[in-house]
Amino acid sequence: MADRTVKLEIRDMTKHYDNGDGVEHINLKIYEGEIVTMLGPSGCGKSTILRTLGGFLDVSDGDILIDGKSIIDLPPEKRPTAMVFQSYNLWTHMTIYENLAFGLKLRKVPKATIDEEVKKHLALVSMSGCEKKYPTQLSGGQQQRIAIARSLMLKPSVLLLDEPFSALDAKIRQQMREELKKIQSELGITVVFVTHDQEEAMALSHRIVVMNKGVFEQVGAPAEIYDEPASKYVASFIGEMNFVNKDGKTIAVRPEDVSITQDIGDINGTVRTIMILGHYVEVNVQCGDTVVKCFVDREQSDKLTVGQAVHLKFAKYHVF
Ligand SMILES: Nc1ncnc2c1ncn2[C@@H]1O[C@H](COP(=O)(O)OP(=O)(O)OP(=O)(O)O)[C@@H](O)[C@H]1O
Ligand SMILES: [Mg+2]
Repeated sequence: MADRTVKLEIRDMTKHYDNGDGVEHINLKIYEGEIVTMLGPSGCGKSTILRTLGGFLDVSDGDILIDGKSIIDLPPEKRPTAMVFQSYNLWTHMTIYENLAFGLKLRKVPKATIDEEVKKHLALVSMSGCEKKYPTQLSGGQQQRIAIARSLMLKPSVLLLDEPFSALDAKIRQQMREELKKIQSELGITVVFVTHDQEEAMALSHRIVVMNKGVFEQVGAPAEIYDEPASKYVASFIGEMNFVNKDGKTIAVRPEDVSITQDIGDINGTVRTIMILGHYVEVNVQCGDTVVKCFVDREQSDKLTVGQAVHLKFAKYHVF
């Protein structure tokens, strides 16, 4: 990672709103061609950070650099960034062609070049041939694709996406996520993505920033965050996790890391429910006051009955 080019750097950035809310002492380097996702619950400050990057909010303190140059004094249109919001991105009174062409027309790009660019970007987002349509004639997912195409038309150095798929249903979201990943790797563009959906973050990102109340809890690759959560908060936010109190400590163990045995184990309990969920089985085991969720295979679950006394063994766990 050390020899990679830093595209965007946030240096000790603080943004306070008048009421005292906001984000504090944010430090982050994002490398060229990386997709970095800000992940966290509602109100933790994801959009605040993204808006300071795009120039829609002034910072209270600190600096933001792109290609080594400070951008905090530049208005949004002068920054080498482009931003896509959650919804309402397109101008409804304009055709798709006009929506896409708008930015280049302002830059006095010749019409022939604009036509070519519009065609190229529509193909990139799999929307060829819809130049004459109006936004309302497209589905939500199609509109967001156009919004992404429009941002890319401006050839930004860094693309900023604030929950661009959150208004879409689960299936379309998944498809959009794969398409975005493909477009990103084709163009090699740097992307800062915001979501509160941990699965979306895991699927899409090179690195994830897990946020909690205006601060960074952990920054790392998806596998790193899943396998080595730095705090109880991260452990509970990413994936499924059991928390078991033992000898005054909290043990965090993922359902797939619990095995059910008849001989000695880490804790004892009684089988409460057995649910077959396709290729795996969810078994809930009552251990004192806690219910421990275990994912096991059919071979194992077929030997279990509700009410049976069992031992649980933890293959891998974290102590907090
Ligand atoms: N314009 C504003 N004025 C005052 N406080 C604000 C303003 N915008 C956001 N906040 C506050 O700042 C904090 C962070 O808000 P932000 O919009 O960045 O959260 P978020 O992580 O994007 O949440 P969500 O997932 O709901 O979009 C919240 O406590 C919010 O209430
Ligand atoms: Mg937000």
